[in-house]
Amino acid sequence: MYVGIDSRWLARTTVRNPVSSTLDLCTGSGVHALLASSNSKRVVAVDINPRAARCTYFNAKALGLTNIEVAVGDLFEPVYDEKFDLITANPPFVPSPVDTLGYRDGGNSGEDILQRIVVGLPNHLAPGGSAQIITELGERMDEPLTSRLRVWLNGAKMDILILRLSVNSAASYSIGHANGDEDYDTFLNSVHDWSSNLRKQGYTQVVSVLITIKWSDTILGEPWTRVEELQPPHNNAGKEVEALFIQERLSRKLNLYEILKQSKMRRAGPIGLTEARLLGSELRANSQANLLGSALPIFKWLNNVEEEILVRMEKPLTLAEIIVITQELNFQEEAVILAIRSLIRNGFIIMT
Ligand SMILES: C[S@@+](CC[C@H](N)C(=O)[O-])C[C@H]1O[C@@H](n2cnc3c(N)ncnc32)[C@H](O)[C@@H]1O
Repeated sequence: MYVGIDSRWLARTTVRNPVSSTLDLCTGSGVHALLASSNSKRVVAVDINPRAARCTYFNAKALGLTNIEVAVGDLFEPVYDEKFDLITANPPFVPSPVDTLGYRDGGNSGEDILQRIVVGLPNHLAPGGSAQIITELGERMDEPLTSRLRVWLNGAKMDILILRLSVNSAASYSIGHANGDEDYDTFLNSVHDWSSNLRKQGYTQVVSVLITIKWSDTILGEPWTRVEELQPPHNNAGKEVEALFIQERLSRKLNLYEILKQSKMRRAGPIGLTEARLLGSELRANSQANLLGSALPIFKWLNNVEEEILVRMEKPLTLAEIIVITQELNFQEEAVILAIRSLIRNGFIIMT
């Protein structure tokens, strides 16, 4: 059974909070169902290929895991109208001119299976639940990846986090997938087929992404979408994915000012600050920051207000103390609040 780098990326980024139920779609070897067994009371693993289902069943038995149910079927079909706290999926996602590998080919667009999974989420995700999907998405000029996801969610109030883990140009993607390397002509024809398919789809590049989708935290609030570009995780990063949701939601709170007044703030950990000069850019930034020791490090340009707050936060500070310190630098209170909001959003400072 297939276990690839994409399987590992999903395994490393899955949020592992204790939950009642998990659904692993496109389970294959069952790797994500087996991992979910430790933090989920009940796990349902689904694959359309009976051989994959048998493999998952065998793996669960071999590991003595008794809370995994295995079903053969097409995506949500075996679970009817059931809802789950966590849904994981690593579907066949390759935008392919052929239809030869059931675990790989996602139709010409690569989205045949992915789209049906996302469409099904509002019906199958329990309140407070989240879905984590590792996939590739073809990227078109001037079309944000998220617009497709919003269309598929059909107005459901769900927040979307997309982590862009790696990017391939259409040309290198076609060469990488072409077959016939024993025969030059066959290989060139295959490269042509793959690149023509990508061109027909309008894809200029193909991006590996982890998509996390959750119900929005308030019925009234507008659902948000956040996209981050970062390195693929080498260690378990589920807690960091969860933290991104917590930070984004906190930074969007309308009463953030009131919350800040009631608590102290401190740096989230050791922070690497790289002094930099930006040439030929509109962006007014003079340093780049990243939280050291992260499994999913995010590098962010800081403006001078953000930088000064971070540098001067040697110990936990109240909002009033931060404002006094920054007044010495002639920063306006409004700019300070904006900077704190951004530092919270990017996980550089936390409340104690
Ligand atoms: C890329 S593999 C992922 C395997 C495993 N989850 C992992 O991460 O290593 C995709 C799997 O999706 C299954 N699959 C394809 N179409 C499906 C469908 N319509 N419903 C359920 N499973 C499907 C394939 O049989 C294959 O096992």
